[in-house]
Amino acid sequence: MAFTSRLRKRLGVVALGAVAVLATTGAVPGAAQSGPAQTESARSDAAHDRGAHADDRIVVGHRGASGYRPEHTLASYELAARMGADYIEPDLVTTSDGVLVARHEPEIGGTTDVADRPEFADRKTTKLVDGEPVTGWFAEDFTLAELKTLRAKERLPEIRPDNTIYDGRFEIPTLQEVIDLSQRLSRELHRPIGIYPETKHPTYFQEQGLALEPKLVDALNRNHLNRPNAKVQVQSFEVGNLKELDEQVRVPLVQLTSTSGAPYDFVKSGDPRTYEDLTTPEGLREIATYADGLGPSIGQIIPLDADGNTTEPTSLVDDSHAAGLSVVPWTFRAENEFLPADYDSSDDPAEWGDALGWAKAVWDTGVDGMFADHPDIVIEAAE
Ligand code: G3P
Ligand code: CA
Repeated sequence: MAFTSRLRKRLGVVALGAVAVLATTGAVPGAAQSGPAQTESARSDAAHDRGAHADDRIVVGHRGASGYRPEHTLASYELAARMGADYIEPDLVTTSDGVLVARHEPEIGGTTDVADRPEFADRKTTKLVDGEPVTGWFAEDFTLAELKTLRAKERLPEIRPDNTIYDGRFEIPTLQEVIDLSQRLSRELHRPIGIYPETKHPTYFQEQGLALEPKLVDALNRNHLNRPNAKVQVQSFEVGNLKELDEQVRVPLVQLTSTSGAPYDFVKSGDPRTYEDLTTPEGLREIATYADGLGPSIGQIIPLDADGNTTEPTSLVDDSHAAGLSVVPWTFRAENEFLPADYDSSDDPAEWGDALGWAKAVWDTGVDGMFADHPDIVIEAAE
């Protein structure tokens, strides 16, 4: 069944005349996608747009252009698209009344002004998220109307102090608002701006009777995006929900992995496999039965030594391609805090290091795309 589903998705892409590599990987560059108002004239205009890369590689605006604006706001997504990103990335959680909204985690105290709102003081609580205690305010304890009264703030004010000038200006967007934005910008920029939604903590939300997946499938259906040539890719760090989504959606699915740990649904069910197991050649072939792409940590491709310096790239990109998976790793960031030690410019964590050099080093491993907080830099490095 999974193979039929994979084949169905791939045939849909082939039917549009996309290049052969797309049929194999499901990686979808802007130039090969149909989208709103994607006419011959628009494609010609797009050649002059920064987003029209000369090759098939894709850039995903990670939480938007979160190096420049508070993450997961419409302003952050819009800036990413205008900088040339091919996709914008909403991480998805849910409200108490079942509306998907863009936040990186259920706890919203780190990225909104909820702690300053006395009317919500009694909502502060402690919950187990994937087995770990977390204290704060949780999206699923608020209705959409209540969440809409909050305003976003910069998550990393020490590292990104300039972004704090936008604190208090932007709402928490719904998935529908993100889709609407992508469609408006696709028309305006004359190239398709895709969405790359991630289901956050699927088991956690399923256990509360607030499963994310049916709402996501509904949203794709309602917006005519549940089709092979839609510019959408759906990601998850868990496995079970991707396997279920494989039976329900026709857009590419992406298995996220990390340098450590294991999918929480595996932990919960007693399955001993880790992300390390999933990224062996055998594990990658298993992923390819239900997904089209791999979203590893960059550290799984270019490991760091004990001093934080880069070492030789692993075989993960080649192994993934051999399994038929595209590879779009996370996450490129320009500040010393996040760069390998050999790309740092100083001891100041907020200062930018050799970000262009680092982006080029990651591109040189043969990846099919990159998640980036600073999309403009990885595009510059690609060009
Ligand atoms: O989804 C890819 C990347 O965003 C995963 O990391 O924690 O930023 O969602 P995170
Ligand atoms: Ca994400």
